[in-house]
Amino acid sequence: MPEVVQSARWVAAQRLRESERTDRLFSDPLAPALSGDEGMAALKLSEKYNPRHEETANYIAIRTRFFDDVAQADATAGTRQIVLPAAGMDARAYRISWLGTTLYEIDHPHVLAAKEEILQAQHRALECKRITIGADLTQDWIHGLLDSGFRSNEQSTWLIEGLFYYLDEPAVNRILKDSFSSCRARQRARNGPCEPILAHCSVDAAGSQGDGRTGDGLAVWHGRPCRALRCAWLGCCHERPWGRRREI
Ligand SMILES: C[S@@+](CC[C@H](N)C(=O)[O-])C[C@H]1O[C@@H](n2cnc3c(N)ncnc32)[C@H](O)[C@@H]1O
Repeated sequence: MPEVVQSARWVAAQRLRESERTDRLFSDPLAPALSGDEGMAALKLSEKYNPRHEETANYIAIRTRFFDDVAQADATAGTRQIVLPAAGMDARAYRISWLGTTLYEIDHPHVLAAKEEILQAQHRALECKRITIGADLTQDWIHGLLDSGFRSNEQSTWLIEGLFYYLDEPAVNRILKDSFSSCRARQRARNGPCEPILAHCSVDAAGSQGDGRTGDGLAVWHGRPCRALRCAWLGCCHERPWGRRREI
């Protein structure tokens, strides 16, 4: 199994584990299928050899819930386009109550092909319109997105989750630049717990532009405090037996 598919399945296995907890932050019924035996095997290896695997699990659970909440809030508020670069084996398309939203999932073609095969066997109803774009995010992927119907002059939310630690800094900046320039929008960025995991982009009614038009100008950095994560449900993470308070 190529490493990239394995990383996507490993994250799905983490979501499976979280879904089984009584104090879970979310439930992902598709996680077992999307993880598969390969994802579980990778997870068991990391649980065996990564001494901080519980923190990793906590981090991914928090990240997932945070992104889910952003997606849900924006969809409810009227955003009709959500873009997931490096969507991997994420099943957000099925976890959120969408209201006529189009979800654009971008990832390597072979990752999306493997995901498609799994999803088709699951026969789950989908509330959103889900469009997949097979592309290398370090190459030209914007044209694929635009050709798939993405409207750059309309509001959109972008969730970039678990990608940037695979790439060098110039590639990260390029992706952020491409993302934000493609939607000709007023941008603001939010931070994730310990990496620039979420880039949130919106356009107001007048389409006016704010600062942070380029990757360089975005307030996205590694390991800074995250005000956006100070939400009610986070408290329960601190109370988990293994859930040491993270520096967030
Ligand atoms: C750790 S997984 C995270 C997947 C998903 N966002 C999640 O949280 O479940 C990383 C994903 O990034 C994708 N990825 C890494 N480099 C990429 C690239 N250059 N082009 C497209 N996708 C890439 C991998 O294929 C994989 O699906």
